[in-house]
Amino acid sequence: NTTCVFSPVPICWFFGFYAKHISLPSQDPPGGGRVFSGIQPTGVPHLGNYLGALENWVTLQNQYPSVIYSIVDLHSITQPQDPAQLRSSILDMAASLLACGIDPEKAILFQQSQVSEHAELSWILGCLTSMPRLRHLPQWKMKSKLKNEGSVGLYTYPVLQAADILLYKSTHVPVGEDQVQHLELAQDLARIFNGRYGHLFPEPTALLSSTRKVKSLRDPSSKMSKSDTQAMATITVTDSPDDIALKVRRAVTDFTSEVTFDPETRPGVSNLVTIHAATAGIGVEEAVSQARGLDTGAYKLLVTEAVVHRLTPIREEIERLRWDRAHLEGVLARGACRARELAAPVLREARQRVGFC
Ligand code: AMP
Ligand code: TRP
Repeated sequence: NTTCVFSPVPICWFFGFYAKHISLPSQDPPGGGRVFSGIQPTGVPHLGNYLGALENWVTLQNQYPSVIYSIVDLHSITQPQDPAQLRSSILDMAASLLACGIDPEKAILFQQSQVSEHAELSWILGCLTSMPRLRHLPQWKMKSKLKNEGSVGLYTYPVLQAADILLYKSTHVPVGEDQVQHLELAQDLARIFNGRYGHLFPEPTALLSSTRKVKSLRDPSSKMSKSDTQAMATITVTDSPDDIALKVRRAVTDFTSEVTFDPETRPGVSNLVTIHAATAGIGVEEAVSQARGLDTGAYKLLVTEAVVHRLTPIREEIERLRWDRAHLEGVLARGACRARELAAPVLREARQRVGFC
């Protein structure tokens, strides 16, 4: 949509006025559906995020007529954040997403807090959610336990996630398995709202990533995670070739030197095979057959080569984009403007149904 290209801010004001005073045509998703997903601006994405989520996001932007990706900063403050750090993490995440291949011409890329409709719909949906419904959801169970007590924001985190999705009448939501229960809440809330106020929201479908979880390089029984305190456990998309070589060399394997794929009995070596196959764009069997005749030490060099080859262009692009703050801010401002164009009429309809106007 070219309306937002030249001067995002005044045009947004115009759209705000337009949406309030003049009926906009339907903002229903086009025939093929609408994809929505979000990622928190906490740290640089790691190899698991890239292979398990972002690579899929790039594929989806070429498959669906309407695709929206959000840097969910409202979600990130459910854990304490340093403001200066958060500000730079948002731009770093924008740079990472663009470098991984998100194309702002194909997908709307925006910062969640720039579209205040998310918070307002979240309030409405929160009033349709019972307390016990939230108590058993994974985010709360995991993170409130770590802190002994969690905030109200952490508790209602999944309601905000439902608002993110429903605000755009999204039909498809790519998520990892850990998010399935959150998506079920979004489906329930669409059903509850529609039942009480008349049909407005489609029930969104989860698109589960087919990539096997990437495991920690230090402890292959747990997944590679941003919150891991051991630097050697995760490969980030900004790691240098030397960092990658060192981390792969130190990756935990076992006492058998042959390379086989058996995640149950040989989780360490199998994780390397998963990483090799996914980064080289080949099947697991092909990866194992390329390892024939190599011991795990020599195989690690092959894995390093595949990872370096895949991540180098991404790292270089992130470094280039980080210097171009104005460009990143421009992409996010335009994205927010386009997101608001879709969100405003849906929220307006929801407000009417509820009886605010
Ligand atoms: P998170 O880093 O937990 O905010 O996750 C962001 C996205 O990356 C979600 O869609 C996760 O399912 C996905 N993801 C996170 N860690 C991994 C992993 N180790 N392997 C594959 N996908 C992952
Ligand atoms: N909770 C998701 C995660 O931690 C991030 C997220 C927020 C999201 N809003 C969303 C994902 C809406 C999909 C759709 O990964």
